[in-house]
Amino acid sequence: MLEELKEANNYIVGKIEEKDSLILEMEAFALEHNVPIVTKEVAKYLEFLVSSYNFKNILEIGTAIGYSGTIMGRIAKKNNGKLTTIEIDETRYNEALENFKKANLLDSVNLILGDGIEEVKKIDAKFDFVFIDASKGHYMEFFNDSFERLTDDGMIFIDNIMFRGYLYKEYPKRFKTIVRRLDEFITYLYENHNFVLLPFGDGIGLVKKN
Ligand SMILES: C[S@@+](CC[C@H](N)C(=O)[O-])C[C@H]1O[C@@H](n2cnc3c(N)ncnc32)[C@H](O)[C@@H]1O
Repeated sequence: MLEELKEANNYIVGKIEEKDSLILEMEAFALEHNVPIVTKEVAKYLEFLVSSYNFKNILEIGTAIGYSGTIMGRIAKKNNGKLTTIEIDETRYNEALENFKKANLLDSVNLILGDGIEEVKKIDAKFDFVFIDASKGHYMEFFNDSFERLTDDGMIFIDNIMFRGYLYKEYPKRFKTIVRRLDEFITYLYENHNFVLLPFGDGIGLVKKN
């Protein structure tokens, strides 16, 4: 992003004033404990999309403390649907459980402790919205398993698809495999799916089935 655009973006994001106390509490917790959660503008966009399309059966891979899950779960609940969300780390899972309790969402959230790679394959259900936000080296696998479970008018939202810009600039050697896999994944999506890449936040990929 051009430097001026970055500054303009920061200025505009500064206008997003969150009033919900639980969301504010989770943002503060994530900052204090270094938990990666979606940025404010991505959270806004996620909420905008899920509420505009009235998605009701939502799958999330990568719960962390339940920040994006609370945003989506509230909308799913309003639409008489359900959020299924998978987290591999037990500490995060327990934090998310507490937050879903506080949000009064336990009746409409199915929180799974496990590896998304195995857990998605076990699910016998259809989703109209899938949010992929876990280990980037496995995005292709998360995507293919989710796509099989996507309703005909469903949408998949892939966060951090530009991986801090490492796809097109020099990157630390340890990220070699992730960068190669993400690069191949983006090419695959352009060639085989109804896909757009939105270059804000850390890059958002959207796939619409039909
Ligand atoms: C970026 S955070 C998710 C943030 C969350 N979606 C939010 O915005 O509030 C990624 C999470 O995915 C989890 N994770 C990583 N690999 C995973 C896997 N294979 N299956 C399930 N969860 C995974 C990590 O433990 C971490 O909590």
